[in-house]
Amino acid sequence: MDNRAIGVYDSGFGGLSVWRELRRHLPDESLIYLGDGKNCPYGGKDREQIRCFAEEAVARLVEEGVKMVVVGCNTATTAAIDYLRERWSDMPIVGLEPAVKPACLTTKSRRIAVLATEHSLSSDMFLNTASRYASDVEVVKVVGRDFVEIVEAGEEHTSRAEEAVRRVVAPLRDSGVDRVVLGCTHYPFLRELIERELEGCDIEVIDSGAAVARRVEWLLERYDLRADGVQKPLFDFITFADEEYRQSLERKALALL
Ligand code: DGL
Repeated sequence: MDNRAIGVYDSGFGGLSVWRELRRHLPDESLIYLGDGKNCPYGGKDREQIRCFAEEAVARLVEEGVKMVVVGCNTATTAAIDYLRERWSDMPIVGLEPAVKPACLTTKSRRIAVLATEHSLSSDMFLNTASRYASDVEVVKVVGRDFVEIVEAGEEHTSRAEEAVRRVVAPLRDSGVDRVVLGCTHYPFLRELIERELEGCDIEVIDSGAAVARRVEWLLERYDLRADGVQKPLFDFITFADEEYRQSLERKALALL
């Protein structure tokens, strides 16, 4: 048993989609959410820069006394997960990978689309996962242009969001894909719009949130790190940006419950 918190990290608001799944699946666990905010968006930046941001973030969570870190960001995972696991080898670190595997196992058309940031889609990790599970499945790679900026601005329910989603997603309607994988943790905040755009096409939208929560649960069991269920869990929010940003993280998280 271990009542220390689990640290969850993202470039900004996106990892809150993972935070929500962790709260649902593991209600006794305390969570410290770090939304960088200062360096967001990561998606167009180079690997070394993103690795440095991720290192700073995990160091901060370790300072806060967490027992485990969930890198709730596909981009930071692709850029830094091996490095982070080497540096903090005594602590479980969970990364985010686009749900290419379940999409490949269930596609009937043998064609899937992965929506993610530019960095994630060009990373070795993505290419390896795609070649491992998708050798006989065609993977259409699509960058969710402006999606992260829209979510960071809290504009998910605006015409700007509708237009951006239409621009990116409409071409998938007749592309022959029957699975669309959300490979960036900001994108589930636009899920409703994405699904609306794909209405009537028999295309399933998949994200990794629930799978990550199951993986975290498995690791908690494996290393005997579960909270005792007696102490009330605490939920903290921290950032490298300003207090206003920190408060908006907290508000957005609470609105998800
Ligand atoms: N939420 C992120 C991801 O999962 C990062 C997006 C960004 O900062 O560009 O990829």
